[in-house]
Amino acid sequence: MESPDLLASMKEIAEAAAIALAAATSSDQVREIEISFIGKRGSLADISSELRNLDADAKRTVGEALNSIRSEISSNAESVRTSLREQERMLRLQSERRDLSEFLVDRHDSLGSIHLISRTRAELEDVFVGMGFSVEDGPEVETEWNNFEALNIPRHHPARASQDSFFLKFGEQDSVVLRTHTSPTQIRVMQAQEPPIYAVMPGRVYRRDTADSRHTPAFHQIEGLVVDRGIGFGDLAGTIETFTRAYFGPEINSRLRPAFFPFTEPSAEFEITCTICGGTGCRTCSGTGWIELGGCGMVHPNVFKAVGVDPEEWSGFAFGFGIDRCAQMRHSVSDARIYLDNDIRFLSQF
Ligand code: DAH
Repeated sequence: MESPDLLASMKEIAEAAAIALAAATSSDQVREIEISFIGKRGSLADISSELRNLDADAKRTVGEALNSIRSEISSNAESVRTSLREQERMLRLQSERRDLSEFLVDRHDSLGSIHLISRTRAELEDVFVGMGFSVEDGPEVETEWNNFEALNIPRHHPARASQDSFFLKFGEQDSVVLRTHTSPTQIRVMQAQEPPIYAVMPGRVYRRDTADSRHTPAFHQIEGLVVDRGIGFGDLAGTIETFTRAYFGPEINSRLRPAFFPFTEPSAEFEITCTICGGTGCRTCSGTGWIELGGCGMVHPNVFKAVGVDPEEWSGFAFGFGIDRCAQMRHSVSDARIYLDNDIRFLSQF
C-alpha cells in the first residue's frame, strides 16, 4: 500500500475504534476492543507490518501517525474503562447493600422516662428559681464539721449518734460522713458567697434508718437559705406558703409549728394540708389533716459566726424538706420504698 492509503485506513481504524469504545458496556469489552485494534494481531499491526515497504520519509510520517493513533486509542480506552468501572462498582455496591436499620415496633415502650424523684427535684427547683433563688450543689460525702459542727450540732447531740449516720473510714475517726441532710451545703454556700444569698440546694442524703413506708436509708432533700438585711420570720412563712401553693396547688395550705433545730432559732416544722384526704383527716395524716414536710427557722447566730457572717448586719432564714415526701404527697405514693425498686410498672407512670 502507498502511504496515503495507509493514512486513510489508519483514520478509518481510529474512527472505528472510537465508535466501538463509545458503545462498550463493560471493562471486559473495552479490553477486547483494545486488543482488536492495538494488540499484537490487531488492525494497527497490519499497518505497521507495511512500514518496512515504505521509503524513509513515508515511514516516518506513517510511523508517527501510527504512534499517535495508538496512544489516542489507548488513552480513550483508559478513560472509558475508568468510567465503566465506576459504574460497575456503584452497581455492585447497590446489589450488595444490606439494610441493617432496626425497626422498633413500638417506640414508646422502649423509651425510658425521667425517675419521679428527678422530675420532682426539677419541678421544685423551677418553683424556687421562679421566686428568684439560685440552685447550688454540694457533695454527698461531707466533713463532720460541715455536717454537724458548723451547724451548731455539738458532739453530744443525738443526731450525731452512729446509729443515725454513716461514717466513712477516712482520716480521723468520725471525721467524714455521708451527709445526713442537705444543711451542710448552706455552710458551703455562705463560705463561697457574700450575702445577699437566695439559694436552694437539692441533693441525696443518707441515714441509718430501717426502710419502711415513709423512710429509706438514702433519700432526697431540698435546702433553702436566704441571707439579707432585715429578713424576718414573716419572710420565711411567706416563702413557705408561696412555695406550697405553687407546687401543690391553691387548695393546699401550709402551717408552721414550733420545733427545735440546733441551727435555727426560732425553729419550726412546716406542715401542709394532707393531700390524701384534703384536710379532713385520714390514716396517712393520723387523723390530723396535716402532713409534716420539713423544718425551718431563722439562721442561728452561731451558724453565722462559724462561716464569718456578721449576725449584727445580716439575718436570714433556712428550710429543708424531703423531695421524696413531696412526690409522695403530690402523686399519692403509698410506700417510699418503691422509689428504689426500679419497677418499670411504677416508673413508667411518670
Ligand atoms: N436538716 C433538717 C433535717 O434534715 C431539716 C431542716 C430544719 C433544715 C430546719 C433547715 C432548717 O434548713 O432550718 O431534718
